[in-house]
Amino acid sequence: MRILLTGVTGQVGGALRGPLSAIGTVLTVDRQALNLLHTETIAPALDQMRPDLIVNPAAYTAVDLAEDEIDTTFRVNADAPAAMARWAAAQNVPLVHFSTDYVFDGSGNVPWSEESRPAPLSAYGASKLAGEQAIRDAGGRHLIVRTSWVYATQGRNFLRTIARLALEQTELRIVSDQRGAPTSARLIADAVVKILELEFASDPFKDRGGPINLTASGVTSWYGLAVAIVNGMKQRGAKLTVNSMIPIATSDHPTKAVRPLNSRLDQRRLLNLFNIQTPSWQEALEVELDTRFWTRG
Ligand SMILES: NC(=O)c1ccc[n+]([C@@H]2O[C@H](COP(=O)([O-])OP(=O)(O)OC[C@H]3O[C@@H](n4cnc5c(N)ncnc54)[C@H](OP(=O)(O)O)[C@@H]3O)[C@@H](O)[C@H]2O)c1
Repeated sequence: MRILLTGVTGQVGGALRGPLSAIGTVLTVDRQALNLLHTETIAPALDQMRPDLIVNPAAYTAVDLAEDEIDTTFRVNADAPAAMARWAAAQNVPLVHFSTDYVFDGSGNVPWSEESRPAPLSAYGASKLAGEQAIRDAGGRHLIVRTSWVYATQGRNFLRTIARLALEQTELRIVSDQRGAPTSARLIADAVVKILELEFASDPFKDRGGPINLTASGVTSWYGLAVAIVNGMKQRGAKLTVNSMIPIATSDHPTKAVRPLNSRLDQRRLLNLFNIQTPSWQEALEVELDTRFWTRG
């Protein structure tokens, strides 16, 4: 099986590369090979590569910048997946795409299910929702993996930011009223490969397609995650400068894009359809901390 993988320089794309190679030949495309801003080049590139499966974690993910770069954001997050989905539907090739808790408005405190009504608060969230809709409208077989609060030991993310600040500063002030499930790119990659193994044993995404929530289990705040990162680094012998961690409200940390307060994604469909029970966010975090990534500079 030939698997086209986008976004290989990103967190999820990078994590998927190895595990995907266990189930097929992975054809990776970075921005140089296929710039998703140039949506007219997508179908010809796919004609040339002729994948049997498309996995598309590439996205415009700069949530605050997206408010100022709406055209670019929608092109990468909505028009590009639309072009992929149209090609995939015409060729009967399954498509795995990724989406976000930011499609929801964050109201209430009940986890969002796959059937919950999306109402994005930001340009990024709206563009991701438009991408989901375009894939559905194309009518082909697909899976849209909705995840949240992604981190890895590579790239720009909360884990690496907190680790760096904890080695440089004495006091950290962290938002404590947004709640969700921090999810490692590794966890996402492992679960997606399990799903693909199951689906490709018969007729992929014929009966079990559509949106699927996939995060670590449990819930915390950014503050709770920061405390766990700092404690985990200390336990592993890191010489930290930080000695005070202060929980603050979202209103004390204004950002250009509005973020949902309740980012929890209900995991029951993942368990019922694919028999996947994801590890707790704490367990998944331990795996990344065990790499002692901060010692690599
Ligand atoms: N990060 C999160 O917290 C989070 C939360 C929920 C859902 N998600 C979703 O999960 C998926 C994976 O996210 P991630 O965290 O892995 O993202 P990421 O680390 O920011 O990586 C994004 C990838 O997309 C590529 N890309 C961006 N614009 C492109 C373009 N014009 N042409 C080609 N490639 C382009 C980037 O390439 P360059 O390196 O060249 O820029 C990079 O490889 C995305 O769909 C995202 O919306 C992420």
